[in-house]
Amino acid sequence: MNRGIQNIIDDLSKHMSDKRLRHSIGVMYTAGCLAMRYGASVEDAYLAGILHDCAKEYSNDKLISICRKNNLGITDYELSNPFLLHGKAGAYVAEEKYGIKSPDILGPIIFHTTGRAGMTLPEQIVFVADFIEPNRKMIEGLEHIRHTAFIDIDKTCALIVDNCLKYLKGKGCVDMGDDILKTYDYYKNML
Ligand SMILES: [Fe+2]
Ligand SMILES: [Fe+2]
Repeated sequence: MNRGIQNIIDDLSKHMSDKRLRHSIGVMYTAGCLAMRYGASVEDAYLAGILHDCAKEYSNDKLISICRKNNLGITDYELSNPFLLHGKAGAYVAEEKYGIKSPDILGPIIFHTTGRAGMTLPEQIVFVADFIEPNRKMIEGLEHIRHTAFIDIDKTCALIVDNCLKYLKGKGCVDMGDDILKTYDYYKNML
């Protein structure tokens, strides 16, 4: 890993819980492996992976205020579930604090929570890495998703969204928000 990434890790370690940092490092290396497999930039995948949750531990008020002040757009669903804003707010922090400019790094940070229809390859890589990284608790279907991740990334996105929706339904959630449903609509025929 280059010096720039080590500096980011050192800085994140001052603001982030050990557990979140361990997860972020797991996502960074997993995204790097997926980038090697699918021919994307490993360096960009590392940066997007390490930074994807940089705003995850911000308070709801802070997330809403960052998004409002910078006109990042907040849907009603996000306003009721402000943790969803950590993607948009995280990309803002990545740009302002860590000088990230590339859409191949900022896009994956913005869209990693719900995915989106027609994700770019770098976005798919971080979306998948976030779900399969080695520190994730073993859940039903994870072994199959991890295996598929290195064979067919479109199918893996479909499997992950399907798994998330089943999990939410199982918890009695009736309103899952438009964003994840749009992602599902796009990827469902790749299952
Ligand atoms: Fe996240
Ligand atoms: Fe994450």
